[in-house]
Amino acid sequence: MKYKAIIFDLDGVICHTDKYHYLAWKQVADRLGIYFDEEINNRLRGVSRMESLEIVLERCEKILSHEEKLSIADEKNEIYKNLLKDMSPADVSKEVMDTLTSLKNSGILLGIGSSSKNAKLILSKIGLQEFFDAISDGIGLAHSKPNPEVFVKCAQMLNIDPTDCLVIEDAIVGVQAAKAAKMDSVAVGDAAKQDIATYKMECFTELIALV
Ligand code: BG6
Ligand code: MG
Repeated sequence: MKYKAIIFDLDGVICHTDKYHYLAWKQVADRLGIYFDEEINNRLRGVSRMESLEIVLERCEKILSHEEKLSIADEKNEIYKNLLKDMSPADVSKEVMDTLTSLKNSGILLGIGSSSKNAKLILSKIGLQEFFDAISDGIGLAHSKPNPEVFVKCAQMLNIDPTDCLVIEDAIVGVQAAKAAKMDSVAVGDAAKQDIATYKMECFTELIALV
């Protein structure tokens, strides 16, 4: 095998919680009278909650205090968590689940590298909290993607050299973070619109042939 470990981003790769991030930010932006659309939302992929808020606020005319910003971020997270509440193992497609199972059976290590502080909550809802060999998430993360920290931490947890890891990402900043961590990457979804990753993938099952 070409790699010893695969590190998956969560939102927009393993499950489609990216659509819930969009809906939650849209609701907050609408309440504040700020224009927000899916193109702006693509810039929030992979970046932390507070950095996402700063991007949303680029179109806000009012100057907000740090406390006001924290309160808006909390409001978004409450809406987001409410959208997550009915998630279940059925939210992982058959294609993703079959591919993950086949990779696991092949003996390659599998990790999660997500900027989200809700990553473990989501993984438990979709029944995958025990499935991965390491979970590196947004809790305690000093720098979010494109900084390599989240992936470097995951490689350390797996006890694997970064150059032996392959990252799967839907965020452009996530692909940049993988590169900064000296890891090869596979772009899916929004990130696959650009030629920055080592590979592009349209269908999850293609991963079996890449590793
Ligand atoms: C990433 C998402 O996975 O997590 C971003 O792509 C999001 O859009 C970030 O802002 C932080 O998520 P959370 O759940 O901690 O607010
Ligand atoms: Mg993502």
